[in-house]
Formats: sequence, C-alpha cells, structure tokens
Amino acid sequence: MSTTPVSLVVDQLIADRRTRIIVCCGSGGVGKTTIAAAVGLRAAERGRHVVVLTVDPARRLAQSMGLTSLDNTPRPVTGVRTGGTGGTGGTGGTQPLGSMHAMMLDMKRTFDEIVESHADPDRAAQILANPFYQSLSSSFAGTQEYMAMEKLGQLRRADEWDLIVVDTPPSRSALDFLDAPQRLGRFLDGRLLRLLVAPARLSGRTGLKVLNASFGMVTGVVTKIIGSQLLRDVQTFVSAMDTMFGGFRERAEYTYRLLRAPGTAFLVIAVPEPDALREASYFTERLERDGMPLAGLILNRVHRSPAARLSAARSLAAAETLQGFKDSESSALGIAALRLHAERMRQADSERRLARRFTAAHPLVPVAQVPAQPDDVHDLNGLRVIGAAFKAD
Ligand SMILES: Nc1ncnc2c1ncn2[C@@H]1O[C@H](COP(=O)(O)OP(=O)(O)OP(=O)(O)O)[C@@H](O)[C@H]1O
Ligand SMILES: [Mg+2]
Repeated sequence: MSTTPVSLVVDQLIADRRTRIIVCCGSGGVGKTTIAAAVGLRAAERGRHVVVLTVDPARRLAQSMGLTSLDNTPRPVTGVRTGGTGGTGGTGGTQPLGSMHAMMLDMKRTFDEIVESHADPDRAAQILANPFYQSLSSSFAGTQEYMAMEKLGQLRRADEWDLIVVDTPPSRSALDFLDAPQRLGRFLDGRLLRLLVAPARLSGRTGLKVLNASFGMVTGVVTKIIGSQLLRDVQTFVSAMDTMFGGFRERAEYTYRLLRAPGTAFLVIAVPEPDALREASYFTERLERDGMPLAGLILNRVHRSPAARLSAARSLAAAETLQGFKDSESSALGIAALRLHAERMRQADSERRLARRFTAAHPLVPVAQVPAQPDDVHDLNGLRVIGAAFKAD
C-alpha cells in the first residue's frame, strides 16, 4: 500500500468561497490555537472576511491579536496586510480587501447569554444567581465544548463574516468536542435532574405513593451526599430552567447540523508523536462515521534537518573518527555538532515513520506538514511563517 499521502493545500481551502467554517481540532497542546490563528490570518490576507474564535490562547498570542480581555466580542485585529499581493481575487483586477476579527471564548458569559435570551428577566436573574448554575456554567466537564459550539452557531447566524475559524478547547481527547455538547444537553434535560425534582412534582397525586416514597428515599440519600442546600439549589435551578428544557438539545442539534453542512471543513491537528496521531486517527474515523467533512490532517511541529543528506549513522561514524583528535577544541565542537545532527536525523526518521503509519491506515486523508519553529509562535509574523506551510508544494 502506498504511504505517500495526498497533500493538503490549506490555501485552496481558504480560497474556496464555499468554505464558511473551518474547525481546528486535535488533542491537547498540538497547536490548535496557533493553527486556527494562522489559518485566519492567512485567509484575511487573501481577501476573506474572517473571524477567529479562540479558546484560551497564550497571553502573548492573544495580545498580538488585540485580545486583552475575555469579553466574548469579536475584535478587529490590527496589522493584517490586506489588499496586498497574494489575494485570491480575479485575474488582473484589484486584490480583494480582507479583514480579520478575533475573539476569546468566555464560556460563562456565553452560558449567561443563553439563559438571558431564553427566560424572562426575573427568571433569568434567579437562574444566574443560583449557586448550582454558577458552578455548572463555570466548571461542568463539557461546558466549554458546548459553549464553543454555541458561539459558533451565534457567529454563523450573525452572518457578518464569510469565514469562521474555530479553535477547540484543550480537551484530553479531541472527540470530547463532538461528544460533550450532547452530554451536557442530555444532562440538562436528562433523567438525573428530573429525578431530583420529581418528589416536588409528584406530591399531591394519588396512586403514586409508593413511587413517591422511593423518590423520597433517593432524594434523602442524595441530600446526605450533596447536602440539602445544594439540592435545593438544583431544584430551584431546574424549576427555573423548565422553560428551557429541550432548548439546549435543540441548540446542540442546530450546531451539529452546521458542522455537517457543506461549507464546513475540519482540520485535524496532530504532532508527529504516537499519542497525538492515535487521537487524530480516532477523530478521523469518527468524522467519517458521522458524515462530517474532514479536509485533512495538519502535522504540526515537524522537524527537518537542513543537512538531510548526511544520515544519522554516517554522522555518528564521523564523530567517532573525530574522537581520535580529542585534544583539539574545534574537533570537540565538531563532535558535538555531528552528534546533535544524528539525534535530529533520528527524530526526523521516527516522525516520518509515524506519519507513514497514519497514511497507511488512512490513505485518502490529505496531509500538510508545518515545520517546528525554534520558538513559540506569539505574533502575527510568527503566524505568517506557520501560514507559509499552507501553500501548494
Ligand atoms: N509549529 C510550531 N513550532 C513551534 N512552536 C509551536 C508550533 N505550533 C505551536 N507551537 C507552540 O506550542 C504551544 C502550544 O500551541 P497551542 O496553544 O496552539 O496548542 P493547543 O493545541 O491550542 O493547546 P491546548 O490544547 O492547550 O489548547 C504554544 O506555545 C505555541 O506557540
Ligand atoms: Mg488552545
């Protein structure tokens, strides 16, 4: 089986005006935020009107995009070179003027906004002040994923941008992004909460005494475990949210449909390491199963050697030879350099092997490689360097 991957040309994806949403996903720390920002900048500098939704960007990168506070509002990014060379515009005409906005997701604020838009002001205030709501909205596992999807839906409905680039939360598993919203939706209109508030609803009805008693027991046990104050919080929260039951699931389903719509493209990001590529494999298979449009894999932080023709073995052999001249300072330097080179070549070989294994398992998935930079990527120029890997070979 061929292990040469089809190449992924991100520039083609962003030049295609039918592409309206690009979702960058992958396991923790692989470069999702960096790639999302680089894709956004590249697209803006090629004439698209872009908004990048970032989740928890590193402080310096956020600052370089003009993001100084978590305020859930898209801000214009200054320093974007628009209307210059490299636009996607037609032949010979003026280059189209692109633009870039960026925002940081504030998951609690997004949750509050949903409550405010669904409940009348008194009820909304009651929900927002509820301690159970407060802890749910800021710490429930999956809230961040749900809110990222929610925000994506809002940005799409606002229809102010022709391309939305979405970064995804730093989940342990890339799949959490797809699963968590439904999990949260199920939780919010789910059985556990209904069970907890059931005694209050059932009381007064006849014929349900036995059931009522057993619910009473459940509540009693739960009260012991979580405390009566918390239980009361949950009960008032659920009663207040009653009008929204179903709403959450509907919203999750709307965004889910958006993710499957033509015009959406997923970029799976991985670094050339076994765990990240395993996650990328799972994610790829899952997208296929769910009928979600996978554009390809971005292999980030790939190491290349400028002297790739000198193999690790020959480099080490040369170092051995130089050992014979160990008195001289320059030979000591040479030995160190040759060993370092051998180490790099070994790393590059192992990265190539891992990439080949991925392609053997997923021969149809296009792949783009982004070289490892010597330093962190924290400004627009750094993003441009990353973006240079998006062109056709
Ligand atoms: N090609 C690259 N070369 C060098 N450094 C890189 C590269 N890509 C990303 N980085 C750096 O790696 C670190 C992690 O990147 P980033 O924050 O984009 O990952 P992430 O997948 O969003 O992480 P998290 O899962 O925590 O959200 C950052 O410091 C970033 O500057
Ligand atoms: Mg990130």
